[in-house]
Amino acid sequence: MSCQVRLVTADGDQRVVHAEPGQSVVEAAKQAGIILPSLCGKGTCGTCVGRVEAGSYDMRPFEDDALGGKQDAVLLCCTEPTSDLDVALPFDSTKLVEQAPNRREAGIVSIERLTPHIVKLTLQLEPDDELGSAAEFEAGQYMQIEVPGRGELRAYSMSNVPNWDGTLEFLIHIRVGGLFSTYLDTQAREDDILNLVGPQGTFGLVENGMRPRWFVGGGCGLAPLLSMLRRMAEWGDPQESRLILGVNTAADMFGAAEIGEVLDQLPELQVTTAVWRPEAGLQPADERFECVAGSSVDVLTAALAQIDDPELVPDIYVCGPPGMVTALEEATAAAGVDPELVHSERIAAN
Ligand code: FES
Repeated sequence: MSCQVRLVTADGDQRVVHAEPGQSVVEAAKQAGIILPSLCGKGTCGTCVGRVEAGSYDMRPFEDDALGGKQDAVLLCCTEPTSDLDVALPFDSTKLVEQAPNRREAGIVSIERLTPHIVKLTLQLEPDDELGSAAEFEAGQYMQIEVPGRGELRAYSMSNVPNWDGTLEFLIHIRVGGLFSTYLDTQAREDDILNLVGPQGTFGLVENGMRPRWFVGGGCGLAPLLSMLRRMAEWGDPQESRLILGVNTAADMFGAAEIGEVLDQLPELQVTTAVWRPEAGLQPADERFECVAGSSVDVLTAALAQIDDPELVPDIYVCGPPGMVTALEEATAAAGVDPELVHSERIAAN
């Protein structure tokens, strides 16, 4: 017998779907035409977080890191209802996708190596009869890119902003043995055509009045944070904002030019680079950046401790490798920050 699953968005919108025995909430929603955020589908990436408010369920195996410090949360790709279920989704109805993401083609414009392990990939969308040629997405979202010749999809966040030109920019970590990384490192050429699925994802700016916005991350977690900061710069958002980036050594810093351009437009943006291994020096990549020894968790913890007005507790956007995101979420919880103010996304190893 199927179970009724009531999906309730953060702004109170409701959808009802039915889960057959052994179906997860994500699978049941998809069958009803609702595409919930879900990347890995097997409990490792944390994209599909939600909260069960009533009802019972079985959990498929999942990795603890995927849930991070989120109390009472579940991974909806692993949640199999065993009774009728009420599920709270952590995003507004405007982000509820009720059709499959678009499939697009895009040509490689350039592959620029920013560090020995980080590449900036720029693509140009091919014009589409229905979708036109603009790159339409929300700052913070990602695209899945098909690995040529392999048919598998890998997800990467855009680091640029929506535009009429159809340009998509990604920051990609070249990983030994990574399927798309290896293609990019050894075979990819300008004008190669790639298949994309998206945009997807609910990570993005939340309307928060004039409360400050902080962005914290590491590695290619910079990509969606940079996209959001560029969007703020484009709109001239007046909120106090802060970017904290964790790097291994000062030489591992990348994206300084892009962050510098944001600073030109958002001069009040405070940028701190936290250098884990400072032996080689603490030279900031831009003289307007602060550069300190330690981790992004240390910097975030110290900054939160200085807030004495509850109105000034920021929305905190976190993105990076799963272990780093979990540590940052735990730091916000330890500082007493309302979990609703913490928006996080984990970068999968691709
Ligand atoms: S989609 Fe559920 S944990 Fe990745």
